[in-house]
Amino acid sequence: MSVSAKKTHPLGVPEGFLWGASTSAYQIEGATAEDGRGESIWDVHSRLPGRTNNGHTGDVACDHYHRWPEDVALLKQLGVGAYRFSVSWPRVLPRGRGAVNDKGLDFYDRLLDGVLEAGMEPWLCLYHWDLPQKLSELGGWTNRDVAGWFADYTVLVARRFGDRVRHFSTFNEPNVATLFGYAMTWCAPAVQDRAAYFRAAHHLNLAHGAAVDVLRNWIPGAQIGSIYNVQPVHPESDTPENRKAALVLDAHWNLVYADPQILGTYPAIVANEFEPYIQAGDMARICRKVDWFGMNHYGPIWTRADDTNQLGFAWGDNPNPVPHPHIGWPIYPDAFTDELKRCAKRYKLPVYVTENGMGRGAAEEVVDDQGRVADPYRIAYLKLYTAAMAQAIRDGVDVRGYFIWSLLDNFEWGSGYGNRFGIVHVDFDTLKRTPKDSFAWYQALVKGEGA
Ligand code: FCB
Repeated sequence: MSVSAKKTHPLGVPEGFLWGASTSAYQIEGATAEDGRGESIWDVHSRLPGRTNNGHTGDVACDHYHRWPEDVALLKQLGVGAYRFSVSWPRVLPRGRGAVNDKGLDFYDRLLDGVLEAGMEPWLCLYHWDLPQKLSELGGWTNRDVAGWFADYTVLVARRFGDRVRHFSTFNEPNVATLFGYAMTWCAPAVQDRAAYFRAAHHLNLAHGAAVDVLRNWIPGAQIGSIYNVQPVHPESDTPENRKAALVLDAHWNLVYADPQILGTYPAIVANEFEPYIQAGDMARICRKVDWFGMNHYGPIWTRADDTNQLGFAWGDNPNPVPHPHIGWPIYPDAFTDELKRCAKRYKLPVYVTENGMGRGAAEEVVDDQGRVADPYRIAYLKLYTAAMAQAIRDGVDVRGYFIWSLLDNFEWGSGYGNRFGIVHVDFDTLKRTPKDSFAWYQALVKGEGA
């Protein structure tokens, strides 16, 4: 009788741990004016002077809308168990509500069938920042009706794709979408108004609750979560003003969505500012049972007090020598372990790391004459961060999966095509895909052959 010993993963992650890769619609799809897609706020924003690096837009991006079979083949080659992508709301509802665009729905049908045939679980995110422009013209997230519009959009997605998708997230990084979109100008629609920000944040929370209810009603067994960008926030220097700025930014960055959605309250330090927008029953509408906590993590933030900013803080400088600088995002793997522990303790949900990865200036990421893209710095980063996650698991955090950001180089919002986060290089002239060295490294990690 032979007893076959189960091979343990070199990182020590539990059996059944899910390895995945993430993308988002506006960043990769392109085809922004094709097959009836409506405009999104990012189409408009990226055409405004000075909003994106060199005026780059997502018009073509990775042309994933046409080249998705090649991308699904790359995912299959990578060997991941799950693919996280987002649906573009204006592609399926060009005006955000009302008339449905069948061709847009057909695209996601094809993609989903392809992902399933390749043996992966699709993880569908409803909102990765591309609000239909028509809804923005009605106030977008500042209009309380947006919760109903979002719920109707969710019904459409649930009815059409609920037979094939089990894992849903309502939002990707609501903090970035609202802070940078309504209090600052780094993201669409760049409104820059204090009251607009608070309204937008509260309405987005209402939309989350409404969408969770829709998904529960339409899809028995759905595994529902939301995705938060979680980073530690430090004062740039130890003054009372900067310490206060750090506490306020920590609330807006890390707590203003997860707290009401999971715990049913706004964080005390900013709660009174939300009061004017909260109607009877709202907190119960927002706080619906979810099944998992999605955490995107890159690195810590330093801040300083700034009265010219709508919320009283500005991005500060890291006072410490930076270990390995990359596009200005410092590398502190211990912070990843700590934040995983903080979230697990506070929210008591299984955690999936839904984004982590490294960006590098486009000029440094080139295909050499042998057709190879050598990115040892990304491999070094990923080794540190996956080890930091493994440490959190050893410390008792129930981390169930890790999704790399990102499968492909793509439209990196305000940085346009100037920063590359992919483990697959994309030549934005020819759209040729070339797996980087980090692709092979991740492939081995997924197989359990390296760490
Ligand atoms: C996250 C976003 C993602 C990508 C990465 C680098 O904040 O969710 O779309 O831009 O950063």
